[in-house]
Amino acid sequence: MRGKSVEMSKLSLLLTMMMAIMAKSVSLKLNYGDALTKSILFFEGQRSGKLPPSQRMKWRKDSALNDGQDIHMNMVGGYYDAGDNVKFHFPMAFTTTMLAWSVIEFGDKMGSDLQHALEAIRWGTDYFLKATKIPNVVVAQVGNPTSDHGCWERPEDMDTSRQAYYLTQDKPGSEVSSEIAAALAASSIVFRKIDRKYSKVLLGRAKQVFNFANNHRGSYNDSIGDGVCPFYCNFNGYMDELIWGSSWLYKATNDQTHWNFIKSNIQSIKFTSIVKNINGFKVLTNGGSFAEFGWDSKHAGINVLVSKWVMKNPSDQSLFVPNANKLVCSLLPNSPTKSVTYSKGGLLFKVGSSNLQHATSLSFLLIVYARYMQANNKVVRCGNVVAKPSDLINLAKTQVDYILGNNPLGMSYMVGYGKKYPQKIHHRGSTLPSFDVHPNRMGCRDGDKYFQSSTPNINVLTGAIVGGPADDDSFQDSRYNVSQSEPATYINAPFVGVLAYFK
Ligand SMILES: *[C@@H]1O[C@H](CO)[C@@H](O)[C@H](O)[C@H]1NC(C)=O
Ligand SMILES: *[C@@H]1O[C@H](CO)[C@@H](O)[C@H](O)[C@H]1NC(C)=O
Repeated sequence: MRGKSVEMSKLSLLLTMMMAIMAKSVSLKLNYGDALTKSILFFEGQRSGKLPPSQRMKWRKDSALNDGQDIHMNMVGGYYDAGDNVKFHFPMAFTTTMLAWSVIEFGDKMGSDLQHALEAIRWGTDYFLKATKIPNVVVAQVGNPTSDHGCWERPEDMDTSRQAYYLTQDKPGSEVSSEIAAALAASSIVFRKIDRKYSKVLLGRAKQVFNFANNHRGSYNDSIGDGVCPFYCNFNGYMDELIWGSSWLYKATNDQTHWNFIKSNIQSIKFTSIVKNINGFKVLTNGGSFAEFGWDSKHAGINVLVSKWVMKNPSDQSLFVPNANKLVCSLLPNSPTKSVTYSKGGLLFKVGSSNLQHATSLSFLLIVYARYMQANNKVVRCGNVVAKPSDLINLAKTQVDYILGNNPLGMSYMVGYGKKYPQKIHHRGSTLPSFDVHPNRMGCRDGDKYFQSSTPNINVLTGAIVGGPADDDSFQDSRYNVSQSEPATYINAPFVGVLAYFK
């Protein structure tokens, strides 16, 4: 009997312990402030050019100091987009726009991280001022992607082709030009009170670049060809970027001509399923373009951004608010018109690779829209389901918490955050030894053995959010699994705002 009761008490102790462990994994204590700091630090790891003394990510060094030489321009600076060493200006501009929007909405919640967020924006805008220095010319990309992808090299000693691709009146690219205009206009709002002179320069350039984009219409697909396709090929046209650029210009200037442009052109955007390209894969989206937001589709972002102005007006007949509502209804788990799926662990999924880009950018829109709704006492109706602002925020919170470790694997998808995070991310600089420990040059294929090794990456790319798990919540921590293990600047940028909100 005695023995049995000992067994019983052992068992109940075990049960209590198990429950405690389970409770812990359910209500994992997340530190949003720490995650915010790291999400911004990540951008220092992606810097190209001459690094400033304030650089905190020390294992990175100066790189690509001759960029632009082939076209007699100074194109030193900017960001590498992801795990390679190409400067793709289309996603770089979107990244900068989203960093700026994050600061516009949530900068007052960033505390001491605000300074670093501003630096991250400026690293982008300083570079875009170089890329647009000559009127009616826009440098659209630096680095030949095919050449770059053929090597596994540190950015600090790459010897691949650094070809600069540029647009002119005869060879235009309205999508990338107008996204750069959006980035410059949004950033001019950020710097208005901090550095008036700089803000004015940004706004003046934004107008000039927007006019170039609008007056000389065409896609950089055609002007640059295999330099951009199939990498950041523009699949859904450039009208969304023209309207998006105009929306940011309107927000920055209140100039009615921009508002007229938005209203008269929004009809030309087709609200149907669209084809798009993510990291080289062509996919058909499932939600209709009102539900799309990313480096190639600005549709949902336009509707949310513009809703702020039109929501106040009861006689407004435009489609911005109805379409923003449709976005919300495409996302809410209990909505009858939901068009995304959720994994068992609760992560939002859309078709295509690098799924976390959707989770971060849509979470951003949910929170921003919830705040506009709150300010105007609105709810969203999805059939019989009535969604309050708090429902949108709760949904965004489930996504944030999942990304930071509240998921079946207990895995944080932000490198350097939490106890368990991806160790073998697909990122050249992070896998190869720093110049500090390996000062000798490493050639094109010298990095292969590091890529192929089964040991963790040598340098921690703190704050990088990777492509993320599969829709069964599994994750392969492998450099070969590009879709899951590669980070990208446009996955992080909207998350900066989201984390500031939850902090
Ligand atoms: C860009 O090229 C792709 C692939 O050839 C094509 O499907 C797409 O329609 C093009 N986009 C534009 C805006 O021309
Ligand atoms: C990446 O990992 C997932 C499992 O988590 C798997 O389904 C997928 O096929 C892998 N992709 C590649 C390219 O290995």
